[in-house]
Amino acid sequence: MDRQQVVLHMNPGMGDNSYANNSIIQNKVMRKAKPIVEESIVRLYTIIPIRCFKVADLGCSSGPNALQLVSNVIDIVDCSSSNLNLKPPVFQFFLNDLFGNDFNSIFKSLPQFLESLEENKGHKFDPCFINATPGTFYRRLFPNDSLHFVHSSFSLHWLSQAPKELVNKKNIHLTSTSPPAMHRAYREQFQKDFKVFLKLRSQEVVGGGGMVLTLFGRDKTCDIRTAWTIIGTILNDMVLENLIEATKFESFNLPLYDPTIEEAKEVIEKEGSFTLQRLEAVIMGWDANINEGVDDNNKLDLNMRAHFITKQHRAALEPLLKAQFGENVMDKLFLRFKTKVVQLFMEVEILEFPTIVMSLIKNV
Ligand SMILES: C[S@@+](CC[C@H](N)C(=O)[O-])C[C@H]1O[C@@H](n2cnc3c(N)ncnc32)[C@H](O)[C@@H]1O
Repeated sequence: MDRQQVVLHMNPGMGDNSYANNSIIQNKVMRKAKPIVEESIVRLYTIIPIRCFKVADLGCSSGPNALQLVSNVIDIVDCSSSNLNLKPPVFQFFLNDLFGNDFNSIFKSLPQFLESLEENKGHKFDPCFINATPGTFYRRLFPNDSLHFVHSSFSLHWLSQAPKELVNKKNIHLTSTSPPAMHRAYREQFQKDFKVFLKLRSQEVVGGGGMVLTLFGRDKTCDIRTAWTIIGTILNDMVLENLIEATKFESFNLPLYDPTIEEAKEVIEKEGSFTLQRLEAVIMGWDANINEGVDDNNKLDLNMRAHFITKQHRAALEPLLKAQFGENVMDKLFLRFKTKVVQLFMEVEILEFPTIVMSLIKNV
């Protein structure tokens, strides 16, 4: 089996560096996309009679976001059922992620989650079946025509693999000075993977079914490309200081790609199984949501903002980096990352990235 399918996962558990405790940016993305999810589900619910509503969340990870879609969908359908004077359907949710994902934490949180759902929905609430579906979304996960709605938030920028045979000795990702061939190799890997993803889902989703996807996007004019490039620069410094083996660094590239809206659109249109209903970019700060729960008057200083950004990135990237470079350099790496983010804030003040949100309908 491909090593990435085993190694890749977010930081597990509920600890200080866990994804569960460091994923509020992704939570904000889900909240921003909620009206688009709502639009897609309401459309679906009014055209297809559904007794058992089957929904898959691909790349669900663990922590509070893993069950966020379940809550959102139940709320939306509940409200639509009331408006249309229909009995709400039974729900079946499939939570998907790679094999190394901390599914156990999700299972452990289920009793409390289901209890609060029952409290909120009371007698209106029919059984809600929650299943786990481990495996890569670049392969078939479900039987033919078995899903009404597919959702994937902040996962599809993960490629099935980094482009093979890249010569990238100074970084672990693209930089503004990477040669065109390297940009092309990453773009082609994205095109190939996204096309496979769409083809597979088209077999699994019923005709007229919906799909809402969000992923890291790229603005063509953005100069400081991503935090991934910064991590690559720091790792390069650590090689020069003999803290990391050069061969480990030179042989590693991050399997991530942030497409432009045009690149995503081109693949959808060429693949042809889905019709685009919406495709838009939402601009977010690197520290979006940091003020969640913080008094507005209590402005956070640069150090705190950089600390927040560092923890969010560490929760997502550490398992993969640890597997390649070893656990003993992780604290040093992320300490340097934090310092770099403070410097960047002083240079450019605003650090933002676009998130691409798209809503698709499976052609009949
Ligand atoms: C940043 S997390 C997003 C999690 C959650 N959807 C959220 O919004 O917080 C990305 C997730 O995608 C998963 N992932 C990456 N590649 C995948 C693949 N090929 N198949 C299934 N899951 C994948 C990762 O393991 C990770 O848990």
